Amino acid sequence: MSRIAYVNGLYVPHRDAGIHVEDRGFQFADGVYEVCEVRGGKLIDARRHLDRLDRSLSELGIRPPMSRAALLVVLRETVRRNLVRDGLVYLQVTRGIARRDHAFPAASTPPSVVVTARAMDFAAMDATAAAGVSVITVPDNRWERVDIKSVGLLPNVLAKQQAKEAGAREAWFVDEAGNITEGSSTNAWIVSAEGALVTRQADMGILRGITRTVLMEVAEAEGLAIEERPFSRAEALRAREAFISSATGVALPVIRIDGHKVGDGTVGPVARRLRARFHDFTEVGS
Ligand code: PDD
Repeated sequence: MSRIAYVNGLYVPHRDAGIHVEDRGFQFADGVYEVCEVRGGKLIDARRHLDRLDRSLSELGIRPPMSRAALLVVLRETVRRNLVRDGLVYLQVTRGIARRDHAFPAASTPPSVVVTARAMDFAAMDATAAAGVSVITVPDNRWERVDIKSVGLLPNVLAKQQAKEAGAREAWFVDEAGNITEGSSTNAWIVSAEGALVTRQADMGILRGITRTVLMEVAEAEGLAIEERPFSRAEALRAREAFISSATGVALPVIRIDGHKVGDGTVGPVARRLRARFHDFTEVGS
C-alpha cells in the first residue's frame, strides 16, 4: 500500500509530498505540531491535542489554519487513506510560505498544514514496556518556552541521538538547579522513595503532555498521591520507580538512569498499573 500525506489542501503520495522552500517551518522552524495516537482506527484524545495546538498557535500568533471540525476531517481522512489501525497521526502547522524575512509575513499569508499517519506495532511497544527502558541525563539547553509544541527541536534531536549512542531510549533534561525537567520527547516521572508519584509542574519549563494529563486522572482514580514539583537527578536515583510518558509510548518504565538501577532494576507496580489502565481514561474519537 502506498502512503498518502495531506499537504496544504491536497492528499498526495507520501514519496512526492513536499513543502515550498520558503515555508517558514523549513526556514525558521516557525511552526507547531501535534502527535496523536491512533488505536483501532480511531483518534485518541484528539480534543485535548487540538486544544493544545490552539494554545501553541495562539502563543506564537499563528492563525488557526481551518476550523477544528475541518482539521478533524483531515486527520481522520489521512488515517483512513493510510489504512492505519494502530499508530499515530502527525500534524504540523507553520506560519506559511513567504519571502524569507525574520519578521512575520502579511497577516493574509495562509498557514501551511501537513498531516501524515503511520502504523506502529503496539505489541512491540508493550514488550518494551514489560522489559523497561534506560535513560541518560543531559543539560537542558532549550529555550524558556518549551511549553509551546514548536517544531524547533534541535536540542531534543541532539539529546535523543546522545541517548541512542549510549544505548538508552531517552535523554532526560536537567536544568541549572539540578532538576529533571522532561525527556527529549516524553514527560518524566518518578515514584519517590516515600512512595509519592512525582512529576514536574507544567510551567513553561516542560510540555504539558496529554498523556501526562490523562495519567494523572488514572493515578487519582487509583488513589495515588500525586506531587507536581521539581525533582532532582539525585532524588530520581533514589526513587522506587521511574517512567516516561508520551502519546503512543503511553507509560514506559525506566529501569536505569545513567547506568544506575532504579529501585531493584525491574519494572515497578505503579508504572505497570498506570499503563494498564491508561486507555480506560482516554477519549476515543470517531
Ligand atoms: N512528543 N515532552 C516533549 C518534549 C515532547 O515532545 C512530548 C511529545 C511530550 C509528551 O507529550 P504527549 O503526552 O502529549 O505526547 C513531552 C511527541 C510524541 C513527539 O515529539 O513525537
